[in-house]
Amino acid sequence: ADPPPLYRVDDLEAEARRRLDPVHRDFFAGGAGDERTLRANETAFDGYRILPRVLRGGGERDLRIELFGETLPMPVLVSPTAFHRLAHPQGEVATARAVGAAGTVMVVSMAATTPIEAVAGAADPPARLWFQLYPQPDLGFTASVIRRAEAAGCRALVVTVDSPVFGRRDRDLRNGFLDLPPGCRCENMRDPESGRVRDIVMDATLDWARIEWLRETTRLPIVLKGILHPADARLAVEHGVDAVLVSNHGGRQLDGAPASVDALPAVVAAVGGRIPVLLDGGIRRGTDILAALALGAVAVGIGRPVVWALAARGEPGVRQLLDLLRAELARAMTLAGAVRPADLTREMILDRVPV
Ligand code: FNR
Repeated sequence: ADPPPLYRVDDLEAEARRRLDPVHRDFFAGGAGDERTLRANETAFDGYRILPRVLRGGGERDLRIELFGETLPMPVLVSPTAFHRLAHPQGEVATARAVGAAGTVMVVSMAATTPIEAVAGAADPPARLWFQLYPQPDLGFTASVIRRAEAAGCRALVVTVDSPVFGRRDRDLRNGFLDLPPGCRCENMRDPESGRVRDIVMDATLDWARIEWLRETTRLPIVLKGILHPADARLAVEHGVDAVLVSNHGGRQLDGAPASVDALPAVVAAVGGRIPVLLDGGIRRGTDILAALALGAVAVGIGRPVVWALAARGEPGVRQLLDLLRAELARAMTLAGAVRPADLTREMILDRVPV
């Protein structure tokens, strides 16, 4: 049977909440500390107003963008989130199928509960996959994970740099959420020699030298995920990375960090068009996507909405989510007088509106 219609992204969360084990629901929903950054990611969009242009015609909207020499049908990617099999028995396979149907990119988490090879083989048409890496102190193992991602057909490496240590998440501590249920593992952490699944290590020694090492270790485009400071964006360009993703990890790492969209303009200015700037955090509406693009992002990522869609309705839910965001963005662009993403410019955003 077809799933019921979907009117707004936020409805998926309520539906998912009813289905999920409360401990897993808290894991997906939660953030670090007082969850200030988590809340700010969404509320920051209230502070921007879209100044529309009228009488620009243009008919059908063209949402396509170019990224790393490929054309994506819309400027929305699926950001990496851990443990999809806690949300739905089909886990990452269901997500990949929905993303394959939408033609966009799924960034597969290093903490996926399905091996990257199985995610790659799941979808027809195949999903475009990028692989998210937490660089491990064991360089040999890190290189072996990259080789697996390359062999599975991943088209970019997303290196998460905002996690030199785990964010302290009170909800998980209170709930005693430590282990995955039996049969559920971080399959991308399986050791090629021993077959054992390693724990993901958050490495506080991570520095730019390691980015240089990664640059020499793979020919895949490298995206640094978790850039907020414009000086780091400049360093990223200098170190030859291919894109930066402005993100605070959905408020799960440094509580008190700015909302992603508030950090975006300075990063865009620092990068000065030399590499693409992406953003994730708090995107729940087509108008949020529009605002982020007008502020200079080439594309946005969505994290929790995918998890909620998966938990609520499985693969059809993730399809509906991507369809809804595409339709909302097309409508918002039409109302704002933009035919294609490149028509969205900085002057169309009035910022720091009192809310
Ligand atoms: C994440 N995020 C994340 N990031 C990453 O680089 N590797 C990971 O394994 C995970 N895992 C993860 C799990 C869960 C449950 C959440 C909510 C988030 C962060 C994610 O990629 C993204 O930055 C945020 O989720 C974006 O914010 P929104 O869309 O959730 O508001």
